[in-house]
Amino acid sequence: MAMAQAFDVVVIGAGPGGYIAAVRAAQLGLKTACIEGWKNAKGELALGGTCLNVGCIPSKALLASSEEYEKVSHHLEPHGITVSGANVDIGKMQARKDAIVTKMVKGVEYLFKKNKITWLPGFGRFVGGGDTYKIAVGGETVEAKYVIVATGSKARHLPGIAVDNEAICDNEGALAFAAVPKRLGVIGAGVIGLELGSVWRRLGSEVTLLEALPNFLDACDEAIAKEAWKAFTRTQGLAINLGVKIGTVTKGRSAIVVEYTDDKGAAQKLECDKLVVSVGRVPNTEGLGAEAVGLKVDPRGFIEVDERCRTNLPNVFAIGDVVRGPMLAHKAEDEGVMAAELIAGQKPHIDYNCIPWIIYTSPEIAWVGKTEQQAKAEGLTVKTGQFPFSINGRALGINEPTGFVKIVADAATDRVLGMHIIHSRASDLIQEGVTTMEFAGAAEDIARITHGHPTLSEVIREAALNVEKRSLNM
Ligand code: FAD
Ligand code: NAI
Repeated sequence: MAMAQAFDVVVIGAGPGGYIAAVRAAQLGLKTACIEGWKNAKGELALGGTCLNVGCIPSKALLASSEEYEKVSHHLEPHGITVSGANVDIGKMQARKDAIVTKMVKGVEYLFKKNKITWLPGFGRFVGGGDTYKIAVGGETVEAKYVIVATGSKARHLPGIAVDNEAICDNEGALAFAAVPKRLGVIGAGVIGLELGSVWRRLGSEVTLLEALPNFLDACDEAIAKEAWKAFTRTQGLAINLGVKIGTVTKGRSAIVVEYTDDKGAAQKLECDKLVVSVGRVPNTEGLGAEAVGLKVDPRGFIEVDERCRTNLPNVFAIGDVVRGPMLAHKAEDEGVMAAELIAGQKPHIDYNCIPWIIYTSPEIAWVGKTEQQAKAEGLTVKTGQFPFSINGRALGINEPTGFVKIVADAATDRVLGMHIIHSRASDLIQEGVTTMEFAGAAEDIARITHGHPTLSEVIREAALNVEKRSLNM
C-alpha cells in the first residue's frame, strides 16, 4: 500500500482565505497542500472560492460594465458630449466577466506552482486525529501536522423558495443572466441585493427590493444610510420596500409572484421575471467531518475560534467566512496570513476594528470603525466632522459631486474612531481612514498632513478639520 502523503500544513478550501494561507505557509518554508473541489459552470475544477468565481471579482466586473453603460447613456451630456445609439451586448459583457474570472483563477494556480503548494482536488473531510490529522480527499487520506479550515460560505436560502439559478437565483445565477430581465425582484436589500440590483437596473430592469428590516442599511452610519436611500430610490429609481414579511413565492409561466405583507401589515404582490434571493450566507461545515475529530461548531454552523483563529483542537485553525466576524475577502485573507504565521511561530495580530467595509453601489459606501450611533451607544463622547464632495474641485471636474466624508473622533483625545464615506470613489478613499486608525491617529493628524491638490482626498482632510469646525473651504 502506498504511504499516505504527509504535510506540515493542509488548508481546506482555496478561497481568498485558504489560498492566501497556503501561499504564506509555503513562503515560511512549510510543506503545504490545499484541498479544493469547486467546479465552475463548465464543470472545470477551479481555485479561488466564492470571491473569484461567484463573488467579489465577477460582481465588480459587471458593476463596472453597467456603470460604463449608464455613463455613456446619461452622464456625458454635462461634458458637452452627446452619444447616440448606445447599446449593450450582454453576451459580450458576460464573456468579459468570465475572462476576468478565468485569469484570476489561473493566477491562483500559478501561485500554487510558484510556491510548490500541492493542490489536492476534491472535498476534504476529517477522518482522524492523534499526533497528526487525517483528512480524506478524492479517494486518498493525507496527513497533516497543522490544518487550516477555510471552507467559506454559501448563499442562505429561504424555506419554500426553491432556488434553481434560472428564474429564482442566488448570487450564482444573478451574476450570469443571459439577458436583462424586464422586472427583477430581490429579496434582501443588503450588500448583494443592492450591488446586483444596481447592475441590472442600470442595464434596464425595473428593480424592486423587499427587505425585512424596518431600517435601511442598518450597519451604516445613519447619515450615510439616509444619503444612500436618497440616491438609490429618488435619483436612481430602485424601489425598496422595508419592513416586509415574505409569504408564498410561486413560479408561474409568465411571471414569478412574491406575496408579502408590507410595513403596515397590508397584503401585497410583486410580479417579476427573475427573482434574486440575497438574505445572507451560511458557513460551509456540512460534510467536513468535524464530529470525527471533535472540532467545535456552533449551532449556526460556524467553527468556534478565538481572536487568533485557534479552534478547540490543537494545531487546527479556522479562518474566513466559516468563522465569526464579517464575511469579507480581505478579512479572510488577513486571517489566512495570521494562521500561517502562528504555525511558523510568529506573533501576528489583526485589529478587527480596522477592517473596512465597502459596498460597490453608485455612489460607493465605505466605512471603518464605529458609526456615530455605535460610539454613543457604547457611552463614548464623540465629535464629528463632515465635508461634502459637491464643493471639491476635483469632484466637480470628474462630475462626481454626490456624497460626503464623515469622521467620528473621540471628544477628549481626538482619536479617530470611525470614518464613513459615500462617493463614487469611496472604495479607494477609505484606506486613509484604515491607515489612520491602525496607527491610532487623531483627526488632527489627518488635518495636518498635506493632501495633493486637486484630489478627492482633500475632502477627507476638510472633514478632519471640520471635527474642530475649522474647515478651510466651507
Ligand atoms: P470562500 O471564498 O467561500 O471559499 C471557500 C472554498 O472552500 C470554496 O472554494 C469551497 O469550494 C471550498 N470548500 C468548502 N468546503 C470544502 C471542503 N470540505 N473541502 C474542500 N474545499 C471546500 N467580499 C469582499 O471583501 N468584497 C467584495 O466586493 C465582495 N463581493 C462579494 C460579492 C458576492 C456576490 C458574494 C457572494 C460575496 C462577496 N464578498 C465580497 C464576500 C467574499 O466573497 C467572501 O467573504 C470570501 O470569499 C470568503 O473567503 P473564504 O476563503 O473564507 O471562503
Ligand atoms: P446581507 O447580510 O448583506 O443582507 C441580507 C439582507 O437580507 C439583510 O438586510 C436582511 O435583513 C435581509 N433579510 C434576511 N432575511 C430576510 C427575509 N426573510 N426577507 C427579506 N429580507 C431578509 O447579505 P447578502 O447581501 O446576502 O450578502 C452576504 C454577505 O456577502 C454580505 O454580508 C457580505 O459579507 C458579503 N458581501 C460583501 C460584498 C462587499 O464587500 N462589497 C458584496 C456582496 C456580498
